[in-house]
Amino acid sequence: MAKVKTVFYCKECGNESPKWIGHCPGCGAWNSYVEESVVVGKDNKSVKKSITGETKSKPIPVREVSNVKEARLDLCYNELNRVLGGGLVSGSLVLLGGEPGIGKSTLLLQVALNLRDKKVLYVSGEESAQQIKMRAERIGINNDNCLILTETNTTDIIKHVEETLPDILIIDSIQTLESAAVDSTAGSISQIRETAAEMNKVAKSLHIPTFLIGHITKDGTIAGPKILEHIVDTVIQFEGDRHYGFRVLRTVKNRFGSSAELGIFEMNANGLREVSNPSEILLSQREEDVSGISIAATLEGLRPMMIETQALVSTAAYGTPQRSCTGFDTRRLNMLLAVLEKRAGFRLSSKDVFLNIAGGLRVDDPAMDLAVVAAILSSNDDVAISNRYAFAAEVGLSGEVRAVNRIEARIAEADKLGMEKIFISKYNLRGIDKSKYNVEIVAISTINEMLRC
Ligand code: TYD
Ligand code: MG
Repeated sequence: MAKVKTVFYCKECGNESPKWIGHCPGCGAWNSYVEESVVVGKDNKSVKKSITGETKSKPIPVREVSNVKEARLDLCYNELNRVLGGGLVSGSLVLLGGEPGIGKSTLLLQVALNLRDKKVLYVSGEESAQQIKMRAERIGINNDNCLILTETNTTDIIKHVEETLPDILIIDSIQTLESAAVDSTAGSISQIRETAAEMNKVAKSLHIPTFLIGHITKDGTIAGPKILEHIVDTVIQFEGDRHYGFRVLRTVKNRFGSSAELGIFEMNANGLREVSNPSEILLSQREEDVSGISIAATLEGLRPMMIETQALVSTAAYGTPQRSCTGFDTRRLNMLLAVLEKRAGFRLSSKDVFLNIAGGLRVDDPAMDLAVVAAILSSNDDVAISNRYAFAAEVGLSGEVRAVNRIEARIAEADKLGMEKIFISKYNLRGIDKSKYNVEIVAISTINEMLRC
């Protein structure tokens, strides 16, 4: 006989404990345990209902494994295909995470409507069929192969999937699903764990690629435990400032490709539009040169991008100067300011410094450093930097200009956009054939050297 038992789960990592504890031994979080009741079988393990029969598995040597290339489905959007590692792999389970209102439902509905010759089952536990229809009308594509199902019970969903056998299954969202095998409310950790496992079984046994939409908590992690990330094959995350039009799709984990990929979309009145050449929109169309602006040749994943960096340096109105960043690490800015103060003799400690990365993007690339330094000095001295100059190098604590990875991709992008000069580290010069590019490569080894250029 199955009976109901109370267990405690860590909200952060999904660790299980028979009694409440204040400090999670799994992830170190404090006060993260919540009580949930689960149905347990005779052997005291949580009951797992098998969806399809057991597979007849057998161990085989690696050598004998046939290396057929997994079939990939083209999702009509190159930006999405790239993030998935070149298309959607048959039978894979993909988790799409993002804050509420960022456009997760819009993106997947758009994919479903665009795939005219594929049958897509869009299961929604969040919105009514009418609301989805309104969104579809806004996107403006008609497609009879896109089926909508508003259901949250996994047994019913699986039944419909087995009947319709869609080419793609979309679940919006995993937090709304409920499995009869677990006796707790939708969105609880044991429900998320169970329903995700059931969806994984469906995807794998019927070879239906499945998208799970998942909400993200304030601190940027996927609501529900890390366990969800372990179950799925691929985790992609939709990011961006809601007040800007740009949305960045980032690979967090991918069993079928690189996890350093990135796709860019723009939210318009009629859905999301792909941005295939980001550099052109990230550089503002300014007529004359204004001080405090420099262009960084950064790399997001494997993709080179020119991003405008804006700085404003002004005399502090109050005693303590302010340092504020949008899209860049404030600690890194403080470090660069200290380097400028100590190694190049600039008096910045009594100045307010504001830094902004254009387009609402967040960049972690160390090669941003030189552009940030250039923008700060340009604003401080009120001298404009030509908008045909690009920067790509890291700045070290002693004011040295350090080499960065994949410099040739950055130079090639600057060249493609018709830049006049690109400032890089002297240590990056090795093996670069300058004659290949029209852009002039200026190699420097310290920030003081850049000031003389
Ligand atoms: P939505 O896809 O519902 O976000 P999520 O599923 O991630 O919660 O919608 C995102 C927002 O985008 C919503 O506030 C309305 C807006 N939007 C547009 O600006 N244009 C459009 O064509 C659509 C469909 C939505
Ligand atoms: Mg939604």
